[in-house]
Amino acid sequence: MPEPPVRPEPPAPALVDVHDVSRTYDADRAVLSELTLQVGKGDAVAVLGPSGSGKSSLLNLIAGLDRPNTGTVAVDGLRVDAMSETASARYRRSRIGMVHQFFHLLDDLTVRDNVLLPARLAGAPRAEAAARAAELLRYLGVARRASDHPGTLSGGERQRVAVARALMNRPPLLLADEPTGALDSASGADVRALLRELNADGQTIVLVTHDLALAEACATRTVELVDGRIVRDDPAVAR
Ligand SMILES: Nc1ncnc2c1ncn2[C@@H]1O[C@H](COP(=O)(O)OP(=O)(O)OP(=O)(O)O)[C@@H](O)[C@H]1O
Ligand SMILES: [Mg+2]
Repeated sequence: MPEPPVRPEPPAPALVDVHDVSRTYDADRAVLSELTLQVGKGDAVAVLGPSGSGKSSLLNLIAGLDRPNTGTVAVDGLRVDAMSETASARYRRSRIGMVHQFFHLLDDLTVRDNVLLPARLAGAPRAEAAARAAELLRYLGVARRASDHPGTLSGGERQRVAVARALMNRPPLLLADEPTGALDSASGADVRALLRELNADGQTIVLVTHDLALAEACATRTVELVDGRIVRDDPAVAR
């Protein structure tokens, strides 16, 4: 009997699969035009481009916070563009962590409770969540501020807490929109090192930024948007 032919393994599906997406708010101008982007597991993609080029719009589509007019968005095998509101909220809780330019921490809660919030919303067991929060705060170097309120922290510390919160539910995908935009240069360097370390540990990251130093420090790939289209897609040079 002849050996059956060995079939090559099919390529692993991309973690993020944005396919031929267009998004229009005003009838006469597309914010994103026929855009296709795939992000593999373990990649750190920096999305660069001038103000208004569609970077945040793209991130919002991946996060399921907005929907394309045409095209599809899939993350981790789930069709994000076709979900009900409930499924979309569950998707955000379980599959993605988000970090914003201005942290979006709740100042009425302590640092520890801010980080625990996603676990509470997901109904995670309390003891496990507390252990995970403590571990994250340690890993991110802000453990000694756990009982303080975010308003008393420096910008860099606040952004570290925001990253801890984003990672709380172990999301396969971390999304960050201008995470160093509101930081001074020392805090920015801090956050750059942190994102790089997370990616080296296997975290997939899609990062929107104007900050070339950030892209160079933590991206394995840079994608440049102009007028809602990808005009450049390069492996990062500086890593
Ligand atoms: N909800 C909305 N309604 C109408 N127009 C919108 C909406 N969201 C974004 N836009 C427009 O879409 C374009 C792209 O916006 P987007 O926020 O994606 O840009 P960006 O690349 O993130 O810019 P920046 O670097 O300034 O953050 C802009 O012209 C913006 O005004
Ligand atoms: Mg933006």
